[in-house]
Amino acid sequence: MNIVILTGAGISAESGLATFRAADGLWEEHRIEDVATPEGFRADPALVHRFYNERRAKARAARPNAAHEALARLQGDPRHRVTIVTQNVDDLHERGGASAVIHMHGGLETALCAACGHRWPAPAEMAPADPCPRCARPATRPDIVWFGEIPYRMDEIAEALEAAELFAAIGTSGNVYPAAGFVELAAATGARTIELNLDASSRSSVFDEARRGPATQLVPDWVDALIG
Ligand code: APR
Repeated sequence: MNIVILTGAGISAESGLATFRAADGLWEEHRIEDVATPEGFRADPALVHRFYNERRAKARAARPNAAHEALARLQGDPRHRVTIVTQNVDDLHERGGASAVIHMHGGLETALCAACGHRWPAPAEMAPADPCPRCARPATRPDIVWFGEIPYRMDEIAEALEAAELFAAIGTSGNVYPAAGFVELAAATGARTIELNLDASSRSSVFDEARRGPATQLVPDWVDALIG
């Protein structure tokens, strides 16, 4: 069965990484416009690098949890073709055994040169003056898709959604498009849709089924039923 899974910050919450819109979320401590927009980066690149350096350190110190590992198990079942699309910039899916994960909002583990487009493995700490290894210009930035920028690999995502027979959203509040609209795209071409989330999301009513609870409980149970 063709399965497309969209994950958000909630799948990494039990690994100790902050989500965005909870009471103690990242957007309570930082203004989005200051640390997650191109304008914010132009205004204060050192602040933005510090924000992502801190998130990179926390992500590297975190461990994948049972939900990440369950999705990797599902990918390993030859009866299913599983595409994992994540809004997350941590690499816990990969460290939990998943492969070919589509990071539509980029990732903390690569650095990007704003001048020549070169990408390379991100060092622990990045700073505005870091020269690009290819063009040597001090134009490095986190390889993160900021608000107002185009998410990565949208063509591949659209193709996967078109072919999906089952679409699952896990740990996302459904507040940010285009990810929040994937459920309708999948349903429009016949997929059954399910939401696995701690709380109701902005899109819960659109799903065929919604299960409530922590991802480390919901996801292994859901995967075990699919693997049989
Ligand atoms: N298990 C399952 N779901 C959880 C858990 C958990 N342990 N903890 C939190 N959640 C759910 C919350 O109920 C919430 O619906 O995860 C969701 C997290 O929502 P957000 O904090 O809004 O994160 P997300 O949906 O990934 O944000 C999407 O917004 O700020 C941008 O680019 C950023 O990728 C991010 C995008």
